[in-house]
Amino acid sequence: MHPDHQSQSGPPHESAADETPVRRIVSGIQPSGRLHLGNFMGALKNWIELQKLYESFFFIADWHALTTNYEDTTAIRENIREMLVDWISLGLDPRQSTIFLQSDVLEHAELNLLLSMVTPVSWLERNPSYKDQQEQIKGRDLSTFGFLGYPVLMSADILLYRADHVPVGLDQLPHLELAREIARRLRHFYGPIVPEPLPLLTPTPRLLGLDGRKMSKSYKNCIYISDTAGEVWEKIRPMMTDPARVRRTDPGDPGKCPVFNLHESFSPKNVQQEMDAGCRTASIGCIDCKKILTTHIEKILAPAREKRHELLAEKGFLGQVLEEGAKKARAEAQRTMKDVRQAMRLPDGNLFA
Ligand code: TRP
Ligand code: SF4
Repeated sequence: MHPDHQSQSGPPHESAADETPVRRIVSGIQPSGRLHLGNFMGALKNWIELQKLYESFFFIADWHALTTNYEDTTAIRENIREMLVDWISLGLDPRQSTIFLQSDVLEHAELNLLLSMVTPVSWLERNPSYKDQQEQIKGRDLSTFGFLGYPVLMSADILLYRADHVPVGLDQLPHLELAREIARRLRHFYGPIVPEPLPLLTPTPRLLGLDGRKMSKSYKNCIYISDTAGEVWEKIRPMMTDPARVRRTDPGDPGKCPVFNLHESFSPKNVQQEMDAGCRTASIGCIDCKKILTTHIEKILAPAREKRHELLAEKGFLGQVLEEGAKKARAEAQRTMKDVRQAMRLPDGNLFA
């Protein structure tokens, strides 16, 4: 995976030791439940690589979760805990990255409010994912102020850390474009304050779920990071395959098989080639093919499982991660807000000084 070093916006952040510019990234995920392999391939795997190359801020976007789940909020605390355990067990490293909870840093709300003052409603209404989601998510009233303003909150998340880059998937590009437009508008009204963030497009393979549809929590077709080895096999074993392979001797087409789709993401190239040839010539059976897939998925899940046990045994550690992360994030956020208030000529506690 190769982060693209596209054109550069804004001043790089100097690292004290050697004066080489260290670029900064920020990204977040809504705590919508346990992470599955699709989330891993779509975001976490990249973050874990990127944290070695960038000064990284990763946060759990709990306020964002409220934009669609404001009625029943009973699961949110548990979802946050699960997400944090998933992140760290997979290899997101609190010593390398600043890992925090959005709502621990109130400056997100302050900047959201100020940005909302300069953001035309028409910019939000024309956001393609606004109408899409309103149509897709049924049974919930999404004609709320907060849902319309989702991309403004997201812009605040990004601009608050003066991020150079934002690792996101394709679906988030319209939001990021809005963050850039808002940054330009701030500059236009108040002078330069924050750089325009550039996307760092995550190569996202289309990961299929157990039933051949896109892997998604709402389809109940996921393999979760926190699944036990037994659960993983019990999910993969009965997976549908190419319907042409009725008998063991019938050749198949891997292109029509969701098991092979998972091989393409989790198995090394030579194994993929073996499975492909074995399937087409009926020299391998589906159960063997699935067993081999399971061993390669387990190369990721088994170490994560072990780490999870350690994390849960170490009382107080996860709370401490969030506390320290919030401290670091807050320091950055407060610096930005000072600049924003100054640029906007807002009072900053020094009105009569
Ligand atoms: N909107 C993102 C998603 O649904 C989550 C998110 C919130 C985010 N704030 C962000 C991503 C800031 C990147 C930067 O996946
Ligand atoms: Fe799918 Fe593998 Fe069976 Fe081919 S051998 S149909 S790729 S499970």
